[in-house]
Amino acid sequence: MKILVTGSGGREHALAWRLAQSPLVTEVFVAPGNAGTALEENLSNVDIDVMDFKAQISFVKEVGIELTLIGPEAPLVAGVVDLFREAGLKCFGPDALGAQLEGSKTFTKNFLARHEIPTAAYASFNDATKAIEYAAGMDLPIVIKADGLAAGKGVVIAQSQDEAINTIKDMMQGNAFGEAGSIVVIEEFLAGEEASFIVMVDGKNAIPFASSQDHKAAYDGDMGPNTGGMGAYSPAPVVTPKVFEEIMSKVIRPTMQGLNDDGIFYVGFLYAGLMIDADGNPKVIEFNCRFGDPETQPIMMRMKSDLVQLCLDAIDGSLANQEIEFDERVALTVVMAAKGYPGSYAKGQKILTIPEENDYSKTFHAGTTLSAGKVFTNGGRVLGVTALGKNVGEAQSRVYRILKEIEFKDALYRSDIGYRAIERES
Ligand code: AMP
Ligand code: GLY
Repeated sequence: MKILVTGSGGREHALAWRLAQSPLVTEVFVAPGNAGTALEENLSNVDIDVMDFKAQISFVKEVGIELTLIGPEAPLVAGVVDLFREAGLKCFGPDALGAQLEGSKTFTKNFLARHEIPTAAYASFNDATKAIEYAAGMDLPIVIKADGLAAGKGVVIAQSQDEAINTIKDMMQGNAFGEAGSIVVIEEFLAGEEASFIVMVDGKNAIPFASSQDHKAAYDGDMGPNTGGMGAYSPAPVVTPKVFEEIMSKVIRPTMQGLNDDGIFYVGFLYAGLMIDADGNPKVIEFNCRFGDPETQPIMMRMKSDLVQLCLDAIDGSLANQEIEFDERVALTVVMAAKGYPGSYAKGQKILTIPEENDYSKTFHAGTTLSAGKVFTNGGRVLGVTALGKNVGEAQSRVYRILKEIEFKDALYRSDIGYRAIERES
C-alpha cells in the first residue's frame, strides 16, 4: 500500500521512516518533507504545502494512496481530517472538533475540569482588566497562556506581578500572538518533573506508546527561552510502573470516557504533557493532538510494532487489547539547531557531513533542504541525532560522539540532554 505523511520536521522524518519499514507498504510519500526524507531510499517528497488540503486530496486520489498520516497540529486544527473523510479517504488524526484539545487551551481546561481529570487550577478571560484583577490575587509565579496555537511560544511563567500584567497586556491588547492571544488562560504553577505521555486512540480505546521526556529550554541546565524541544529521551525514568498506572487510570481512561460522554469521536495520536509531583501524582499541563517533536525520534527509534497496521486498526476502531512493543533499550535525541533559535536565525548553511545510520543510531532531519545533491539548513531545528543505549548514559555518550562528526556554520546544541535521567541512574 502507498502512504502519505504530511509535514516537514524531525517528527515527520521519523514517522515516515518507521512507516516505510512495514511489510504492508510499497511506497511512502512526504509532503513537503525535508532533505532527510528526500535522501531516504524508500521515501519520496512531493512538493505540496502542509496546509494545501485540496492538492493533498488530489494527489492521494491520483496516486492511489490508501492511508494519510498528518504530522503537525495546524492542519488537524484546520480540519484536514474532516475533508479527507468527506472524500472517502483514510486519514489518521483527529477531526477539527477533536483537535480542539490542542487548538484551544480554554476548551481543554474546561474539558479536564468537567471530567475531573487532574490539572492546575485556572481561569480563562477575554477581558484584560478582569485577567489582571485575577492575576493580582495569585501566588507567584503565575502561568499565563495564549488560548490558541502559538507554536510552543504562547506560555509565560511570570515571576512578578509586573511581568504578569505586562504579559497579559501584550497577549490581549498588544496582539503578541494575534488571534491566539485574544483569550488567555491564567493558571496555578505546578512543581515537579515533566513527562510526555503519548497514546494512540481509535475513537474509544487508547493504547500507550513508551513514555518520554523532552527538554524545552534553549540552553544547558534548562535555562533560557522555551523552544519546541532541544532533545528528548524514552523512556522517562520519572514514569515508573506505578506512575504509568496512575497516568492510565487518572488521565488517559477518564479522557477517553470524557470524549465519549461529550460526543467527540477522536482518532489519532493524543499527547498528554504531564507534571509529575514528588509523590508520583500526574497533572495534565496540556494536550497535543499529534506526536511530539522531538519525542517522536527516540520513540520511533525504539518502536517494534507495525505502525501502519496500528494506524489502520485505529481508523477501524480495533485497538482494544493491543499493545505497542518497544526495544528494551533507551533512546536519546539531541537537536542540532541554528544559532539564534528560537529567535531569528540564518538559513542556507551547508551541512558538511551527515553520519550514516547504523544499528544503534540514526540522524533524523528537521529544518533541512536538498539542493543539487547537497544538504542545507532550512529551519531553526536542523537535525535530531538519535541513539539507542543500554541506559541513558550510554545513549547520550553515543549521540554526542556522533554530533562531533556533523558540521555546519553556527550550529548550536545543548550539551546536557538527559542529565536528570542520568542523575537518577547514578
Ligand atoms: P504548554 O504549551 O501548555 O505545554 O506549556 C509550555 C511549558 O510551560 C510546559 O512544557 C511547562 O514547562 C510550562 N508550563 C505550562 N503550564 C505550567 C504550569 N501550570 N506549571 C508549571 N509549568 C507550566
Ligand atoms: N516537544 C513538545 C511538543 O512536541 O509539543
